[in-house]
Amino acid sequence: MNEQNALPAHIAVIMDGNGRWASRRLLPRTAGHAAGLKRFAEITELCADMGVKYFTVYAFSTENINRSAEEVNGLFSLASKAIDTYVEKLMRKNIRAKVIGDLSMVDASLAERIRRAEERLSACTGMTLCIAFCYGGRHELARAVNSALAAGEREFDDGTLGRYLYTAGIPDPDLLIRTGGEKRLSNFLLYQCAYSELYFCDTLWPDFDRTALEAALEEYSKRKRKFGR
Ligand code: IPE
Ligand code: IPE
Ligand code: MG
Repeated sequence: MNEQNALPAHIAVIMDGNGRWASRRLLPRTAGHAAGLKRFAEITELCADMGVKYFTVYAFSTENINRSAEEVNGLFSLASKAIDTYVEKLMRKNIRAKVIGDLSMVDASLAERIRRAEERLSACTGMTLCIAFCYGGRHELARAVNSALAAGEREFDDGTLGRYLYTAGIPDPDLLIRTGGEKRLSNFLLYQCAYSELYFCDTLWPDFDRTALEAALEEYSKRKRKFGR
């Protein structure tokens, strides 16, 4: 691996393809999301073990709320179960977690449980896991502008908005991976990915294993980052 580009400090992933993974097996889409959740837990641990500092995943977009009630409820109940299953594990791995998104989209009890889980993990000092849940890039930008105005900001420069985003204090992703074959951002981290290296693969998220991650890292190591210079 090239020295300068050895390991991204921040990896972001659009975990796409759960539905197709399930359809190919004649399973309900929710089964694909359950398989995707397991994969997410595994890849999170792998990133922490590799020494990645920030790992951000797109778990549910503001637009995903327009899917069938059955799928949306299935996803929310999976999120709720994930809190019970994974908070202790994250704690043992010293992984801090931060959820970014508009939690007014879920019921108050789930939002409260998410905030409590975050709080419990806030003292961890290892990798930061950032979960984009009920997240939309445009919503985040509009919210940032409103917060900045409410805080009395009058002049905006390149850095102003960044301080009001959900991701304030988190460096921009070095590498953005999208699984599932689509080549688009789907409203993910529109501001933060200005100079991220983009990597697209056809692998469906529930199949994205260590080898697939290593292939992405290998490709990243060969990229020449220029930042316009
Ligand atoms: C991504 O998988 C997970 C979420 C959007 C919650 P999809 O559910 O979009 O899977 P495909 O793209 O339909 O295969
Ligand atoms: C993006 O995937 C959202 C998540 C992975 C959570 P989608 O499946 O919702 O994106 P589109 O609809 O293909 O653009
Ligand atoms: Mg999809």
